[in-house]
Amino acid sequence: MWDKERSWTLGSYLDHGGYQGLERALTMSQDDLVALVKASGLRGRGGAGFPTGLKWSFLPAPDGLPRYLVVNADESEPGTCKDIPTMMANPQALIEGVAITSRAIGCDHAFIYLRGEVVQVYRRLLAAVREAADAGYLDTGFGLDGRQRLRITAHAGAGAYICGEETALLDSLEGRRGHPRLKPPFPAVAGLYGRPTVINNVETIASVPAILARGASWYNAMGTERSRGHGIFSVTGHVTHPGQFEAPFGITMRQLISLAGGIRPGHQLKFWVPGGSSTPILGPEELDVPLDYESVGAAGSMLGTRALQVFDETVSAVRVVARWTEFYQHESCGKCTPCREGTYWMRQIMARLEAGQGLPGDVEKLESIASNIAGRSFCALGDASATPVLSGIKRFRAEFEAGYTTPAAELFPYAASAIVESAR
Ligand SMILES: Cc1cc2nc3c(=O)[nH]c(=O)nc-3n(C[C@H](O)[C@H](O)[C@H](O)COP(=O)(O)O)c2cc1C
Repeated sequence: MWDKERSWTLGSYLDHGGYQGLERALTMSQDDLVALVKASGLRGRGGAGFPTGLKWSFLPAPDGLPRYLVVNADESEPGTCKDIPTMMANPQALIEGVAITSRAIGCDHAFIYLRGEVVQVYRRLLAAVREAADAGYLDTGFGLDGRQRLRITAHAGAGAYICGEETALLDSLEGRRGHPRLKPPFPAVAGLYGRPTVINNVETIASVPAILARGASWYNAMGTERSRGHGIFSVTGHVTHPGQFEAPFGITMRQLISLAGGIRPGHQLKFWVPGGSSTPILGPEELDVPLDYESVGAAGSMLGTRALQVFDETVSAVRVVARWTEFYQHESCGKCTPCREGTYWMRQIMARLEAGQGLPGDVEKLESIASNIAGRSFCALGDASATPVLSGIKRFRAEFEAGYTTPAAELFPYAASAIVESAR
């Protein structure tokens, strides 16, 4: 329904069967709701693919005090662009999902934590919450006893990648600087304000209404054995028609590139990443790998957020990895030494190599620093920063070594001139 006129309004959502899922949810018990989402096979769409119903079932037994749902709408990973379009085009699917999930976990106050820069999305969310509330959809059926009104707070953060990490998000939501927390305790036990909290991605929660309306077996009939259902595949970069493609898990990159009109005319695919900048680089030889969590893992990468970035032969792998490394250095929260220092060092070396001024041993030094960040940082931001460096060197070592003598702009003049052009 994204292409319908004023698709974001409640009226348009209702015309397309909206709020039938909530209607059904209000007739079901909390346990049955959790069981249904478990049976659907829905896995978290925020990157890690953790089973959603199982996560909900981790909340401890009610003790009479509040429990919360927090929707992660921070969407900041380079290349990832599915949650913001969802909230712009169809915010009511998210609001209905929030209502159903709140019902399932006994919550009467849910939060949507949004990246602050996207003011237009914030306005749209506020309007959508108001529309749903005014229409009475949040009036009763929530909370521990299933009889409370549901409050939904849309919160705009200040704009930080680290605030997408679920525990840093909670700190930020509580009014502190966004720093990751030590786990355990996990948010299911001690999350927002120290209370049991479910944190799910926007797409995860927006997938719930259709599962309620159409049934778990409708959903799990799609996809592959362990990656059920469908998701949004965001194809960006050097294809003819970049865009969002909603497809069952197991679709291949070859099929997606073809749906996107092919690689831009006159060029060939050089490399791609399946799930944003923090997922290892793949090449033309992996085009037929089914895009599900297991197959992409077996191919040496990660499905992540299905942010499929396509790069053709005009692109310098060193330049790409240098941009990503700048991003991670800028976004490192500074809490732990491996990530704070390591991303800074890697950024400096990448800049040298990109400029053709690499020092002897720089490529080995990069490998050593990245390997010492991976698995040793406080949260996964450090691992994310190491991945493009390690996988870039693995795939394109000669290009990195050329950085001892030759600037990337000289090796890839077309890309350099295109950047100058677009900057004008
Ligand atoms: C540095 C970092 C940034 C993250 N950013 C996001 C984000 O923007 N959105 C998101 O849903 N998950 C993000 N995550 C993953 C969350 O920590 C968490 O796993 C996710 O919100 C859980 O939702 P899900 O189970 O529905 O996937 C990030 C993780 C890390 C380490």
